[in-house]
Amino acid sequence: MARWTRRLYPWLLAVLFLAACGSRPPAFKGTVLNPPKTATDFTLTDQTGQPFTLNAQQGSVVLLYFGYTACPDVCPTTLGTWKQVAEQLGADAARVRFVFVTVDPERDTVEQLGRYLPLFSPDFVGLTGTPEALEPVYQAYAVYHQKVLRADSALGYLVDHTATTYVIDPTGTWRLLESYGTPAEDIVHDVQLLLK
Ligand code: NI
Repeated sequence: MARWTRRLYPWLLAVLFLAACGSRPPAFKGTVLNPPKTATDFTLTDQTGQPFTLNAQQGSVVLLYFGYTACPDVCPTTLGTWKQVAEQLGADAARVRFVFVTVDPERDTVEQLGRYLPLFSPDFVGLTGTPEALEPVYQAYAVYHQKVLRADSALGYLVDHTATTYVIDPTGTWRLLESYGTPAEDIVHDVQLLLK
């Protein structure tokens, strides 16, 4: 063996070893927050008019999403996916909180959330509050939201918004992001890993 080959050989083994490790499927399907962050606590009002505090959910996985009930497509699609997630989780769904925070408090009153969420599941939580209560929550989770006036629409305006689902583990640590369109099976996979 030429001297350069002998020098190269351990490196080659190392590269092959790393390549083998890299070919294993990643533990999580969603985007991992690295490093993970303590999920910023908040208290808002749920669809029954009761206060809902994030930190009180420890022991459960929290799926956190920001949207609005007049959303024509993205929000209903996400909530439809969540319904599938809950069904596929079976008994484990009791250890998951599905939390929908409005980006449209003007129209998404307690009553409106109370009408809307049960269309998907009686167990889903819808949260609203004053703009002053909501704004720090948007900031903590870097939620984009922008009213878009639509003269041609009976709705008057739409709201462009972040459509990511934030995944918080049972210790209250924000661990993952699930992008819009992630299949229910992938979210179930990730939730089950966090419940172990
Ligand atoms: Ni939406």
